[in-house]
Amino acid sequence: MREWDPLTASATEIASIVALLNEAMAIDLPDDPLWHDGSMRDYLAVTMPGERKVMWLAEETTGDAGRGIPPLGGANVLLVGDIGVMEIVVHPKARRLGVGRELLSQVVKRAADQGYTALGVEVPGETSAVEFYHRFGFTCAFTEVRSVLDLSSVDWFALGELAAGVGAGYKLDFYSGGPPLDMYAAYAAAKAEVRESYDLGDLELRPSSYEPQRLQASINTLAARGLKLYVVVAVHESSGEVAGLTEVVVPQQHPTRADQYDTVVVPRHRGYGVGRAIKARMLFELRSAEPGITQVQTWNAAINEPLIRVNQELGFVPDRQWLEYEADVADLVTRLGIS
Ligand SMILES: CC(C)(COP(=O)(O)OP(=O)(O)OC[C@H]1O[C@@H](n2cnc3c(N)ncnc32)[C@H](O)[C@@H]1OP(=O)(O)O)[C@@H](O)C(=O)NCCC(=O)NCCS
Repeated sequence: MREWDPLTASATEIASIVALLNEAMAIDLPDDPLWHDGSMRDYLAVTMPGERKVMWLAEETTGDAGRGIPPLGGANVLLVGDIGVMEIVVHPKARRLGVGRELLSQVVKRAADQGYTALGVEVPGETSAVEFYHRFGFTCAFTEVRSVLDLSSVDWFALGELAAGVGAGYKLDFYSGGPPLDMYAAYAAAKAEVRESYDLGDLELRPSSYEPQRLQASINTLAARGLKLYVVVAVHESSGEVAGLTEVVVPQQHPTRADQYDTVVVPRHRGYGVGRAIKARMLFELRSAEPGITQVQTWNAAINEPLIRVNQELGFVPDRQWLEYEADVADLVTRLGIS
């Protein structure tokens, strides 16, 4: 077990991590596209300003990863706000041998040393991780549904009607790399307003950006991690307000599958077809900007019915539950017998 820093790791070590992820994915999420080593070092290392990420590797013999042998497992914790957000992956051939428990112990020790009181983790449903986190007293705080849209199944004619079906007085614009600078304040305000009006109760393991400075930082961070951001914004022409927005990210690390991030429609602009139109327009833009994309995946709170309905109209098919688990650090320290 050793602490590991992607910034100083050799290219061979980075490739070993990609192999570990892919060999785990083949078992846990066999329908997901494989990881590519595109900007993987940056993807692993770069964080938002003020956040810190610590990583560990478990190897049979120290230095295996540097010799091109995939490690037995890896873990990382992102120390953000007052919660540590962690990930643990153990190679399928090394499971049920206590490697996961040892990696979890490293994370818990560090979180306790740094004064963090809670740990959160996103767990794909129907994987061994569910039992593992239950075993250590984690509880499920929030449930989402992951849905996948296969672009080859899209009825582009019907989609065109959805994209055009927005009420009069709204202007839709597409931007690569994020909204233009002079729109940051209105863009962040729309996100903040929706967040306040509609608290879904999630743990904010993927925090959003509700004020312009943080928005700027998050756009820069995405770019530095090799994640290409596209947005479609609906502007209410008479007030100049951002009425709705949708964000899609294309990661160099899995370039055939895009991730649909936030879609928000400000409450007073609901009922004019904005949500449907911005998401439909995004798919058209994506098709021409990123011809290599074959699928788009998205996560919705199980209780966010309006958005789930829009996604179904667009052809997204629910795939599996995605669970947010949390546990108290003090409780984990006791359970794991950490002194
Ligand atoms: C979850 C995971 C990290 C566990 O790693 P591990 O090294 O096998 O875990 P451990 O051996 O330390 O298990 C500790 C305890 O957790 C529980 N546990 C772990 N896996 C379990 C399983 N498949 N079924 C039931 N209980 C399980 C058991 O109580 C186990 O103790 P035991 O073996 O003495 O009964 C590993 O299965 C994994 O990487 N899963 C996939 C993670 C993921 O999210 N993948 C998707 C992206 S690639």
